[in-house]
Amino acid sequence: MTKKLSSLNVLSLCLLACSLVASAAHAADGDWKRGRVYYQKVCTECHTAKAGGPIAPNTRTMADWTKYLNTDKHAKGKEPLKMYVSREYRANIKATNKAAEKYADVPDEQLFNDVKTFMLKGAKDGDSPASCL
Ligand code: HEC
Repeated sequence: MTKKLSSLNVLSLCLLACSLVASAAHAADGDWKRGRVYYQKVCTECHTAKAGGPIAPNTRTMADWTKYLNTDKHAKGKEPLKMYVSREYRANIKATNKAAEKYADVPDEQLFNDVKTFMLKGAKDGDSPASCL
């Protein structure tokens, strides 16, 4: 009886651990397609022009990106990354950037989450590592 109970306990602990892992993997639940468009048309466009080339999502792991995005420091810590997904930034560039124009009214947090979802999905160990930008 005791033995049976303890193996049940082990089983429920395993199930709990699995569901925790699963929810961590789905923590970024944004619209990755919109995130990809924004990443390619806004982030990559500037990296190509000013950062020496594109920065592919598959150059880092999901854990690296999660840490990077939570820290919110961009360009060697010069500025918050979030400013580049803000409505204010989109409004500033939308005359010359179609993605910024298309998503001009998406709330900042939502767009940030979309970009994050794409970056995690495209990470080295993500669901579909993305090298081509
Ligand atoms: C207006 C230009 C510009 C835009 C827009 C831009 N970046 Fe950058 N980014 C840079 C530059 C410049 C660097 C390189 C800084 C250095 O190495 O000194 C950089 C570096 C990076 C790096 C390398 C690590 C770091 O922060 O130094 C990552 C990752 C990154 N950008 C992500 C993004 C994402 C995601 C977006 C879009 C939401 C974005 N960037 C939008 C200019 C830009």
